[in-house]
Amino acid sequence: MARKSGRGYFLLINMKNKGKQLRFDRWKKTWFSVSGKLEKIAFKGESDFRFPEEVANLVISKYSRKGDLVLDPFCGFGTTLVAAKKLGRKAVGFEIDKKRAHFASGRKAGRIINDSIENIGKYTLPRVDLVFTSPPYLSMRHPKDPEGKHYVEDIYRIFVKIKPCMKKGAYVIIEIANLAREKEFRPQAWTVGLRLSKLFKLEGEIIRCNNGSIEAGGNNDHSHVLIFKNK
Ligand SMILES: C[S@@+](CC[C@H](N)C(=O)[O-])C[C@H]1O[C@@H](n2cnc3c(N)ncnc32)[C@H](O)[C@@H]1O
Repeated sequence: MARKSGRGYFLLINMKNKGKQLRFDRWKKTWFSVSGKLEKIAFKGESDFRFPEEVANLVISKYSRKGDLVLDPFCGFGTTLVAAKKLGRKAVGFEIDKKRAHFASGRKAGRIINDSIENIGKYTLPRVDLVFTSPPYLSMRHPKDPEGKHYVEDIYRIFVKIKPCMKKGAYVIIEIANLAREKEFRPQAWTVGLRLSKLFKLEGEIIRCNNGSIEAGGNNDHSHVLIFKNK
């Protein structure tokens, strides 16, 4: 385990191995902390539902190698693709929102497809080595679904479509927070983890903590980094 106290976080991942050690070591630290501060981007409109590039860096370094293809099925502003490019990986992202897709495309870090990830089967893509994403927190097929009854099934159906586009042995890493609302606690990190474990082997989780006052998602100062393998 490398320690980077100077930059304010403890790195749970042995970066020295530079992608050689691809197994999640459950006996090492199962959490890490970051400030949670987001990089400034020149997007006009709300853009705080991102993860910091640092989180993408940690995941991509650990679960892929140079030259690999990384897919972010809900790529938003393109954070995953930017991190992947800096680390010498290729990347492709799907983003349903036109403005965000256009912005992400302008970052020139990989191919952005402005379409729903549900249509992935229509595109000719090489098989991907790593899927890394943070999914939207509201139901996708049912925008007027405040209870989120369809949320987990929507995510499941989407990953059924993604699976054939992945290499065998590829990792799927999902960064997701439970939703802590005033009158409701929705444990979607847990329910998504359990549901997707029917499709992929759930190898474990790492908790990402924000060590300052910045939210990590869902009104929480931490999120869950779920680790699955495509067996
Ligand atoms: C939590 S944000 C991802 C932010 C991203 N991690 C970043 O750092 O920029 C989720 C994104 O998924 C997009 N989205 C929702 N449903 C989608 C779908 N069916 N296909 C593709 N993108 C979708 C939303 O428009 C939103 O931009």
